[in-house]
Formats: sequence, structure tokens, C-alpha cells
Amino acid sequence: MAISPITTEEFECFRRLIYDHAGISLVPEKKVMVASRLAKRLDHYGLSLYGDYYQLVVGRDNPQEFQVMVNILTTNETYFFREPKHFEYFRDEILRPWRGNSFRVWSAASSTGEEAYSLAMVMSEHLRSQQWEIFASDLSTKVLDVARNGVYTMDRLEHMDPRFLEKYCLKGVRAQSGFFRVDKNIRSRVTFSQVNLMSPLPVNLGLFDVIFLRNVLIYFDQETKKHVVERLATALKPGGYFFVSHSESLHRVTDHLRMLKPSIYRKI
Ligand SMILES: C[S@@+](CC[C@H](N)C(=O)[O-])C[C@H]1O[C@@H](n2cnc3c(N)ncnc32)[C@H](O)[C@@H]1O
Repeated sequence: MAISPITTEEFECFRRLIYDHAGISLVPEKKVMVASRLAKRLDHYGLSLYGDYYQLVVGRDNPQEFQVMVNILTTNETYFFREPKHFEYFRDEILRPWRGNSFRVWSAASSTGEEAYSLAMVMSEHLRSQQWEIFASDLSTKVLDVARNGVYTMDRLEHMDPRFLEKYCLKGVRAQSGFFRVDKNIRSRVTFSQVNLMSPLPVNLGLFDVIFLRNVLIYFDQETKKHVVERLATALKPGGYFFVSHSESLHRVTDHLRMLKPSIYRKI
């Protein structure tokens, strides 16, 4: 069935829905992107109007479709050792001098898991069999499924040290050639869970030595950023480290974090 172009009113309905649920601000320029991403769901249900799909998403008959829409409207671009300077700082300034009993890191918008597994490889090198763990979370259930599986295509490896590939990954052969899987020991150190950054923190989350919250604040307006960062800062140990992307800043966002260098902060 032919799909009618999305109207301004229909776009506004989806814009409001994703903002209220996920804090994601969709500017009017995203109308075409939203329409093209949702088109496959309209196709799936044989609908021609975005308004009818909206009714389906907010209606009671198909509660899973709301999450499908959320999965579709989030942007999940990521790769191993993205922004390599962060991993160098993490290794040299945080892990090397660290003395303690148990080291905990939160990858707070982990997408398909590359960030969490990159951290786990660095931690495995330096903390070895000491007590350490990574908690990784995202809003999209689709990316969390990929992350738990830990299988990736070889072309995602631009920034990974080839020694890590040898040591911490299993290269696929025959039907799996072109893919690799993060090894079981590394996978077992990472727990993936669905967390909406807009919601109160999960109970029993505990405190972290380091939080990575990278490449997600760009989707939030100033007020949402403030709420999210202040909430996450409560899960950081005193003196704990907070990383955002180099393209993001916490200027005028919180008084609880002090900038060490652009994109790296420490809890006061
Ligand atoms: C671009 S990816 C960033 C991945 C990784 N941190 C990196 O820097 O490569 C942004 C992720 O934020 C997630 N996200 C967006 N809004 C969210 C929210 N309200 N709660 C939790 N995750 C959210 C998206 O699902 C997406 O996977």
C-alpha cells in the first residue's frame, strides 16, 4: 500500500512522544528521517497514514510496538575504541594508579556494546583477575540484544589494537567469516540492561568509579541534559570520573562535576 507523506501534525505527535519518553529532541529537519525510519512499520502493518501508525503505537492493543518505535527512532552509531584518547586517559590516569577492592564502570548509553567491551579489554589488561565489572545500559532493546551476543563485523575494528583482537576476540570461520565474537571471559564481565536515562536510577545500582555517557547528550535539550547528568552523578563515587564525548560539554549543566580536561570530569 502506498504511504502518504508524513504531515507536520503527524511528525509533531511522534516528536512529542519520543521527547516525553526518551528526552530526545527531534528538530523539524528530522521529519524526513523520522518518516523514512517509520515507513517500514507502516509497511509491516499495511498502513498508509503515519497518524494510523501513531494510534497503534499509543493504543492498548499492541503494547510491544511502542518499544519497536523507540528502537527505530534512536540513533545507535558506535564503534570499538571510539575517541581513543579517552581509553588512553582511562588506562594511564585512572586504572594504573588505582588501588582498591572492586572497580566498577557504567557505560550509560552503550548502544550495541562496543564501548563497554572496549573498556572491558583495557580493564582486563590492567586489573586482570582483580574484582571488576562493567554495567552497560541503553534504552533500545534491539541494540541490547546485539550487545549481549557480542558478535560484530570485522570492518568495525579501525581503532582496535590488533593484539586485543587476537587476545579477546574469536574470529569467525567459514559461514562466520567476516565476523568476530568477543570472548566469553570479557562478555561475562559486562552486564547489559535496559535503563531509560529519563527515569529514576534502578534500585541496587550501586556506585561507580567511572561513568561513560558519550554521544547521547547531543540528542537532549539543556534542561534534559541537566536532569540526566545530575541523576547519573549521584551514582558516581566521590572522586569518580565522568566522560562525555569530545563534541559535548557540561558547561552550565552541573556543579557536582569539575572539568579535568575537555570531555573528562571528576565528581567533587
Ligand atoms: C550514538 S549512541 C552512543 C553509543 C556510545 N556511547 C558511543 O559513544 O559510541 C547513543 C545511544 O543512546 C541511547 N539513548 C538515547 N536516549 C536514551 C535514553 N533516554 N536512555 C537511555 N539510552 C538512550 C540510544 O539508544 C543510542 O544507542
